[in-house]
Amino acid sequence: MSENAGYNKQFHIETYGCQMNLSDSELMAGILTSHGYRAADNLEDADIIIVNTCAVREHAEKRVIGHLANLNRYKQKNPNLVLGVCGCMAQHMKEKIIEAAPHVDFVIGPDAYRNLPVAISSALEGDAFLDLKLDKTEVYFEIEPSREAGVRAWLTIMRGCNKMCTFCIVPYVRGRERSIPIAALLAEVRKLAQDGFAEVVLLGQTVNSYHDGQHDFSDLLIAINGIEGIERIRFISPHPVDITDKMIDVMARYDKICKHIHLPLQSGSTKILQTMRRNYTAEEYLRLVEKMREKIPTLAIGTDIIAGFCGETEEDFQATYHLVETVRFDSAFMFKYSPREGTIAYRKLADDVPPEEKGRRLTAIIELQERISLEINKGLLGQEVEVLVEGESKRDPNQLCGKTDSFKTTVFPRDNAKAGQFVKVKVADATGHTLFGEEPK
Ligand code: 5AD
Repeated sequence: MSENAGYNKQFHIETYGCQMNLSDSELMAGILTSHGYRAADNLEDADIIIVNTCAVREHAEKRVIGHLANLNRYKQKNPNLVLGVCGCMAQHMKEKIIEAAPHVDFVIGPDAYRNLPVAISSALEGDAFLDLKLDKTEVYFEIEPSREAGVRAWLTIMRGCNKMCTFCIVPYVRGRERSIPIAALLAEVRKLAQDGFAEVVLLGQTVNSYHDGQHDFSDLLIAINGIEGIERIRFISPHPVDITDKMIDVMARYDKICKHIHLPLQSGSTKILQTMRRNYTAEEYLRLVEKMREKIPTLAIGTDIIAGFCGETEEDFQATYHLVETVRFDSAFMFKYSPREGTIAYRKLADDVPPEEKGRRLTAIIELQERISLEINKGLLGQEVEVLVEGESKRDPNQLCGKTDSFKTTVFPRDNAKAGQFVKVKVADATGHTLFGEEPK
């Protein structure tokens, strides 16, 4: 394929779902740019629109189908416009996407992005294109992503998942686990530092299962900690069973590693954790949290919880509720269980919690978590927090915003601080989601 295949053509990528998808969109942008395509400033200017999708819950897929219907307007205005669907939902729904949205020109799964230029050329010649092969070895590591300039860079360190949680579609749409060799990652992080990124966020479906044959996740954290110019290191999402004592020690000891972890719980009932195949009990999760807090006293913890999984009784739900009360997470993403075709739960377990009951449980746990997040954040009133400045606050141009080490969004009055700098902010007010800095006296 010629380097200039895309001469003069502009693309626009829309991303749904998780940070891995954001990172994949940057990868696709990198592939297209190296083939001579250009990023469009806005949707209206695009010759190629790519929707990068998520399959983790039905709601995400329904939103994309609705959006694809809307994008048909652009195709009607411009018959040469190419519309592609990529990512997890492409892999999950396969040909059914074309049935649901016949105006879509190509459908490409997460392991086939190298074929984007071919897909676009086929579409321009009037042929639909479908590539859904999963490739156990594809990690795209020599491809340069096209990142938006900023303070925080996403870096995919491993792809796929071997855990086979019964509710989860990821192993079916992203394939088996594979890691990028450490040397390639370190070279990339050095480049990120040169490009002015102060923070790197390591990404993987079970990021701490990272192993390149010789180096594990802790080795990688230590090596990145030594790279000049990188000030903060984060990672999402670790799996509780792969948190080793070595990893906790490394987090405690190395200063650039943020004292924050997003540690998906899913349920506080050991019986439900077993049907989910999470491979830990509620007690083990709690002990892990206690151990981490003992070694890293300032650790902030976030989590994911599913309400109303197959077989979840009121008692199981109460166990989750109580565990949330006991752990006191800083934040949580909470979801109703959504059966996903192809998963073990879909095939073998009855989705037996009625929708209104799922909704009631979800609301109860959200209300509890909102109260806890608010209490924790109000506990910071009057204290000074260190914020890495990201830029102007979206809501108020007179304010700046950034995150604390503990990943709390902080908004504070504009002074001379610039993106990429650390500033000390005295917390004057707080909601469950945001800290607000003091006005200058
Ligand atoms: N239904 C509801 N939530 C789900 N998640 C994953 N699969 C499902 C599902 N089928 C949630 C989990 C996971 C997060 C990314 O999405 O909590 O950690």
